[in-house]
Amino acid sequence: MKKYNIITYGCQMNEHDSENIAGILEAMGYEHEENAYKADVVVINTCSVRENADKRFFGVLGQFKKIRTKNPDFILCVCGCMPQQPRIVEKINKQFSWVDIVFGTQNIAEFPHLLEKRIGTGRKQRSIIDNNPVIDEDEMKPKRMYEHKALVNITYGCNNFCTYCIVPYTRGREKSRVMSEIVREIECLAADGVKEVMLLGQNVDSYRDPAGHDFADLIHAVNEIDGIIRIRFMTSHPKDISDKMIDCFRTCDKLCHNIHLPLQSGSDRVLKRMNRHYDTARYLEIVEKLRNACPDITMSTDIIVGFPGETEEDFEGTLDMARRVRYDSAFTFIYSPREGTPAATFTDQIPDEITHRRFDRLVDVMNDISLEKNLEYKGKTYDVLVEGVSKNAEDTYAGRTDGFKLVNFTSDKSPDEIIGTMVRVEITESKTFSLEGREVL
Ligand code: 5AD
Ligand code: SF4
Repeated sequence: MKKYNIITYGCQMNEHDSENIAGILEAMGYEHEENAYKADVVVINTCSVRENADKRFFGVLGQFKKIRTKNPDFILCVCGCMPQQPRIVEKINKQFSWVDIVFGTQNIAEFPHLLEKRIGTGRKQRSIIDNNPVIDEDEMKPKRMYEHKALVNITYGCNNFCTYCIVPYTRGREKSRVMSEIVREIECLAADGVKEVMLLGQNVDSYRDPAGHDFADLIHAVNEIDGIIRIRFMTSHPKDISDKMIDCFRTCDKLCHNIHLPLQSGSDRVLKRMNRHYDTARYLEIVEKLRNACPDITMSTDIIVGFPGETEEDFEGTLDMARRVRYDSAFTFIYSPREGTPAATFTDQIPDEITHRRFDRLVDVMNDISLEKNLEYKGKTYDVLVEGVSKNAEDTYAGRTDGFKLVNFTSDKSPDEIIGTMVRVEITESKTFSLEGREVL
């Protein structure tokens, strides 16, 4: 049997694309191989959101040169966000000629044909499509990473054009899937034993299907599906989140008490230059509404440090927002200029040294708050959906609370018995990024 391996970089959207690619390869008779260097087909699913992803990718491509030269039957494929940029495909063709197949984010369904053509003719295949109007989700049979939880696309692409962001260029214009098709997919997942769904979109709040259903309607519809016990979603956009959506936290019992609400900056001036279409006052108003609707809601965010023109005062604004909102966790990023985006041409780029110092200060503030928040969990008992064996210790399991807190806990049960089930866990220890506990019966 021929073997495949997929190397995935980037966001959950990419992870789900890789699940679909794995499904395609298995349907073609390939078997998964843990070690990429022993596989017959390797697919590298790339990310372009920040520069370090670029660097890592080209490094990995280099490592496959030897294998490719030694074994002419080995097939190396590149897909995802990087090849959606013509200059990257040019660079691959010129400097990494051993890459066999290149496809993009919007023509994954074409992959089997490209692979067959490559095998049949021995020739390299390149196929990238921009703004593909065809949604081929129904043809996909993803091989899921987890049995009990699933990623479900609800929108593709993005129309927001935040000035720092490459995504609108790599994933094309925003398209919403038809609500009834999403519901049908989740019904099938539930029949297959899935208990938790993560609804995915670059901006879930701008979901609108041709029949006029909005994101709140979709949550209500998913809340009705038997077998599903937890609904999550990602990513919200403060400019589009509606009162109707916020009200779902009151009315939809399966909706998890957790939201990822990117702030990006705590300075109104910077938010304007980022083209975010909200200010800090509006953001705080949303946070208040969310906490009124759902007092125990947990919150995470994305923040960029060192956006062009960011002054010390702007940055203090970000620290101030972090302290006011008190996030449970935060993804903090150093601004990375992306070729082709407006911000990359701004002339007031911030020196690395200043950005790094600000970044460290922000991380310290965020981590202190995360730990303080996690300390509130100590001694209490929570429902935890068990995801697997813990990464840190073999006799320990890992799972998530409703609020998405990672819990490593001990239990007398066997992995077969416990994984994918909901258990009660008493929290015995709080750390910055996780909780520890023991199952209580
Ligand atoms: N530089 C740094 N961070 C970025 N992000 C997106 N583009 C960039 C960039 N050019 C961050 C944003 C976004 C997250 C997924 O990645 O915070 O919300
Ligand atoms: Fe990028 Fe902004 Fe779209 Fe998010 S909303 S994907 S940050 S352009």
